[in-house]
Amino acid sequence: MSESGVRSGGAAVESPGAAGAAETRSHRLAVIGGDGIGPEVTAAALTVLDAAEARFGFTTERTDVPLGADNYLDTGELLTPEAVELLRGHDTILFGAIGSPRVTPGILERGVILALRAELRQAINLRPVRLYPGVPTPIAGLTPERCDLVVVRENSEGSYVGGGSTVHRGTPGAVATQGSTNTWYAVHRAVDFAFRLAQQRRRRVTLCHKTNVLVEAGALWSDVVEEVAARFPDVEHDYVHVDAMCMHLPVSPERFDVVVTDNLFGDIITDLGAVLQGGLGVAASGNLNLDGSAPSMFEPVHGSAPDIAGRGWANPAGAALSLALCLASLGEGDAAAAVESATARVLAELPELSGAGMGGSTAELGERIAAAVQDSGEGVQSSLMTQLAAVQAGLRD
Ligand code: NAD
Ligand code: IPM
Ligand code: MN
Repeated sequence: MSESGVRSGGAAVESPGAAGAAETRSHRLAVIGGDGIGPEVTAAALTVLDAAEARFGFTTERTDVPLGADNYLDTGELLTPEAVELLRGHDTILFGAIGSPRVTPGILERGVILALRAELRQAINLRPVRLYPGVPTPIAGLTPERCDLVVVRENSEGSYVGGGSTVHRGTPGAVATQGSTNTWYAVHRAVDFAFRLAQQRRRRVTLCHKTNVLVEAGALWSDVVEEVAARFPDVEHDYVHVDAMCMHLPVSPERFDVVVTDNLFGDIITDLGAVLQGGLGVAASGNLNLDGSAPSMFEPVHGSAPDIAGRGWANPAGAALSLALCLASLGEGDAAAAVESATARVLAELPELSGAGMGGSTAELGERIAAAVQDSGEGVQSSLMTQLAAVQAGLRD
């Protein structure tokens, strides 16, 4: 636990106040850069963190945890019990991305990131979809007022934990099965969180699923939504099939406030959500441990982007906005708001949101966001950070 007694996962968070508090607050932060652009965007986010610490009077004790392709190819290890114990000794985790063309797909993804989310009981993957003012979006006519929703992605099961088997691989007789696990417990935990969050926002929850085909899992999700909705009479709820969601999201995102959905659908629709915000480089997420048993973990929605790795072309905004979520969960509300608004300001100044035309390298953009954190200029911020704190406080009661 940090000196402030707050763990980033569960029991959070009244803001302990800005600079000038008598005692310096310190948080133990584990950093997993990972593969490809992961270390690049994470380094930029840490530059932003330096600026936030200087301005808001807290410190972090940082530990680099070398998980990913290099570590796997050197040692043959994925997520070891020792690494899990090391991470448990921290208040929070910043994660870059994992995945490499040098390793068969699935080994690192399942062996590191999915293993981390499971071992650390990170029940929810919270993925805001917010278009900041002045940021170019490929969706014609979309405005910031119309694009402010949050996807609550169930983070522990569905087809990610269904098991499966293959026989006769590589022959015309090949048969592959892939299951899906859906428990009342995990679905209830996600849906309950979604309703609590909606209560702090525009009071509307949308279940996104495929109940017309996945009838078993779909019925469980629908039943749980009805059951939870009865406890939240002030929150409206509706239902949208996941295929229709892919049409509604770009055309009328304003109809959504909190979208709750299964692990796989949540993965897919949040890449689309990222596009609404300006691109994959902009979207942030938090893997939240809701019971305080282990640290939460914050990561951009994008992956390791091997196509642009090593060139300084990755946008660090998603990593910086994930840092903002991390700071909010640590109780550093003022710093979280400053990082969010600084990132939004810098984003609005960029000629392009990725690649050679961004107007600066990944590291330079990190420095620009850091400089914007240090000046106290006005900027846009969402109230998501405060909403999150309120939900976490409610869960603690
Ligand atoms: P990706 O998100 O890495 O890249 C998709 C496209 O978006 C690429 O063209 C990439 O250049 C671009 N892009 C991504 N992040 C960007 C950024 N910050 N700035 C500018 N452009 C950016 O997805 P992919 O190509 O499907 O997967 C690559 C690898 O990453 C795979 O191994 C995959 O399994 C892994 N992956 C990991 C995570 C994670 O660690 N959480 C998430 C998604 C994918
Ligand atoms: C994400 C990624 C991961 C997921 C992969 C890499 C396992 O796509 O974080 O969105 O599917 O959750
Ligand atoms: Mn994904």
